[in-house]
Amino acid sequence: MSYQVLARKWRPKSFATLVGQEHVVRALTHALDQKRLHHAYLFTGTRGVGKTTIARIMAKALNCETGITSTPCGTCSSCVEIDGGRFIDYLELDAASNRGVEDMTDLLEKATYAPTRGRFKVYVIDEVHQLTGHAFNAMLKTLEEPPEHVKFILATTDPQKIPITVLSRCLQFNLKQMPQQHIIDHLTRILDSEQVRFEPLALRHLAKAAAGSMRDALSLLDQSIAHGAGVVEEEKVRDMLGTVGDDYLFALLDALGARDVTALIAVADQMEGRSLNFDSALQELAVLFHRVALLQFAPEALGDIAERDRLKPYATIFDAEFLQLCYQIAIHGRDDLALAPDEYAGFTMALLRMVAFNPVTASATNVGQAIAPKAAVPVTRPNATPAAASLTATPVAATVAAAKPVAGNVQVSDDWHAIVAALAISGMARQLAQHCELGELSETQIVLRLPPAHKHLQGKAPQDKLQAELQTYFGRSLKLTIDIAAASGTTPAELARSVQRERQEQAIASIEGDSFVREVVEMFDATIDESTIKPI
Ligand SMILES: Nc1ncnc2c1ncn2[C@@H]1O[C@H](COP(=O)(O)OP(=O)(O)O)[C@@H](O)[C@H]1O
Ligand SMILES: [Mg+2]
Ligand SMILES: [Zn+2]
Repeated sequence: MSYQVLARKWRPKSFATLVGQEHVVRALTHALDQKRLHHAYLFTGTRGVGKTTIARIMAKALNCETGITSTPCGTCSSCVEIDGGRFIDYLELDAASNRGVEDMTDLLEKATYAPTRGRFKVYVIDEVHQLTGHAFNAMLKTLEEPPEHVKFILATTDPQKIPITVLSRCLQFNLKQMPQQHIIDHLTRILDSEQVRFEPLALRHLAKAAAGSMRDALSLLDQSIAHGAGVVEEEKVRDMLGTVGDDYLFALLDALGARDVTALIAVADQMEGRSLNFDSALQELAVLFHRVALLQFAPEALGDIAERDRLKPYATIFDAEFLQLCYQIAIHGRDDLALAPDEYAGFTMALLRMVAFNPVTASATNVGQAIAPKAAVPVTRPNATPAAASLTATPVAATVAAAKPVAGNVQVSDDWHAIVAALAISGMARQLAQHCELGELSETQIVLRLPPAHKHLQGKAPQDKLQAELQTYFGRSLKLTIDIAAASGTTPAELARSVQRERQEQAIASIEGDSFVREVVEMFDATIDESTIKPI
């Protein structure tokens, strides 16, 4: 037995089995049931969304031996012959290959004769926008004074190219792209009835790749059945499509959210190891940023509950502006890939750019400034590893480092908080500095007090690093000594924490004080989970 491709085998034969396009089905059903028939219909929409399918159902509806009906029987000889593509009064013309005026006049001449078998002659002109101007003109005459027994069904992917004179004589229906969930459900039904084993996640990839076209989804399904030797598995499908697995994408999002450059690069390395396509990775990241942004602004736009749940955490951790930037970086990063030394470099640079623009770095200055290359100074300083620098770059450090990259004898401060903020240090050295208090500062030496609770921060490497940076800052040779002793005032770390606490309290207060929130709380006898409130 020969194998029939799924798209053909599963072409819906009735309005009831058609997936989606409810708006079109409703209008056509109504018209057929009321016998209010137009002589020319125009179906528009991208490929594989049901234009030809609906045209054939219409042809049956008009010619079924049970009478004009929105539910053609499917068993009379007219229905069977239309389904089989051999009904004498039904003609499908592909305007892409029969675009000239001769083809059209030929067709129109035949149209003048009464139907042989059916009630109506039904002419489907596919890709009608491809007709020449002359052919359109010839058709227009017939459309103006159509014979009673002729119905035209025009289909196009590009309605803009159809002359307005023709458009105005057709009843136009715009078919929609297939939502992912509709595709997944349809594929599931088909595989169940074909008794093909499959992993649900595989269908998600296929549906995504089909980009709204049911025909493409079914062709890809054919391919993946062949590829997987009769089984549709996620891994194989991903392999076939060359798509980057969600695991990688979400690992990237997690690392971005945590501003963890080390993790980010590690994921990129794994992807490189598996020869994944960095271009499609950037594209899929852009898709994710877009979906997360949508979730923030219009959650109902995400019809798929599973997707909504999956993305919800990211909608909270990413700020809206940051998402916009990441989206831009991802799509422009794709162009840059071609210019990059290699794709890995292009990809990782795009990721680093996202980190460099993260809101923690950006919020201290304003965003405009953050975009300026200067703000990236902490990330690109040769004496700090990119990972460590951007991981710990605090707002203040970013600002000051940008404004004052080398201290020299620019104005120096003896306020320890200001000094720490200005130092280009990261990691342990910064931790150490932040937990200290200035004890003594002379021409030749600087003594810091480190509270015993933090004495684990002491160590030769961070201390050497801190000493070197202090020397740069003050522009003279200084010996750094660290005393373990209780601090008498507040260390930068404590200050940061209390500022954070204060902002948190303000955030809680403003939520609790909000009249809308209060109303909701009262109306539903709700409580506010304070741990979920984040200062903005
Ligand atoms: N709305 C739909 N519901 C179910 N299957 C569809 C739908 N649209 C397209 N298909 C599938 O795709 C195949 C091609 O659809 P077709 O109607 O020829 O698309 P086009 O819009 O390009 O004319 C059909 O045979 C069918 O298997
Ligand atoms: Mg078609
Ligand atoms: Zn019939």
